[in-house]
Amino acid sequence: MSAQILDGLAYSKQVRQQTLEVIKGLSRPPELGIIVVGQDPRSAVYVRNKQRAATEVGIQCHVCPCCAEISTTGLIHVMGSNNKHPAIDGYIVQLPLPAHIDLDVVANGVDPEKDVDGFHPLNQGLLLRGSPRFVPATPRGIIELLKHNGCTISGKRVVILGRSTIVGRPLAAALLLNGALGDATVTVAHTKTEHLQEVCREADILVVAIGRPRFVTSDFVRQGAVVVDVGINKTNGGLCGDVDFASVKEVASAITPVPGGIGPMTIAMLLKNTLESCQRRTMRGK
Ligand code: GUN
Repeated sequence: MSAQILDGLAYSKQVRQQTLEVIKGLSRPPELGIIVVGQDPRSAVYVRNKQRAATEVGIQCHVCPCCAEISTTGLIHVMGSNNKHPAIDGYIVQLPLPAHIDLDVVANGVDPEKDVDGFHPLNQGLLLRGSPRFVPATPRGIIELLKHNGCTISGKRVVILGRSTIVGRPLAAALLLNGALGDATVTVAHTKTEHLQEVCREADILVVAIGRPRFVTSDFVRQGAVVVDVGINKTNGGLCGDVDFASVKEVASAITPVPGGIGPMTIAMLLKNTLESCQRRTMRGK
């Protein structure tokens, strides 16, 4: 039997509609900054999508383009303007950045209270300690899409394939939070994991964020497992995920498509993080 499709595009529209309704009742619109370094064509598409989605829900979006040659110090200076700007509720520095930029310095340079990406070490620490301020958008989108589709997380064995700072690591921390959206038993696997297929086959929920087109075939998936594909890879045949959708959908009970799965959920969660930051700042009189 073919798997249920977990339609992130449809659900992200609902989330954005709910976000819009909340924003209509605020005394001022939330404001989101996006700093873009260089001309990466994929980043350009993602940033346009974020900007459009923000504007549609009533978030004022300020895109700040920087040249690819900007130094780490120069970028920190631009970030400082966003940190100081009283109207900006949150901002992100779009990744990837050119290789000469020091990512740790950038992560440390965001005002933690405006860090809607949740990448500042303080916010990573709060999430790890179980009292998150900002849950990074992709992990949050994965969890909300599973919840919306009635997939139980609590008590389940989740295997995350990939240990990136953006997805794998914060997702593991989020799934370990106490409560219905966490309480999972989490394994983080990666390219060096021995017996990778066997480890993945233990999963009730398998999340794949490894950045290799169609890497996960049906051999990695236990009959009836839920499979979440975070990959977006450009191939000659068009966009595809890290999961071999055609074979895995015959084994899984539910699966996210690419495109139309986690990608749109990530954008919706960035908007929610921005709205929540605005609400917190308004309560503090900012
Ligand atoms: N590039 C791909 N995903 C992300 C994300 O979640 N945040 C930022 N800042 N850049 C990204």
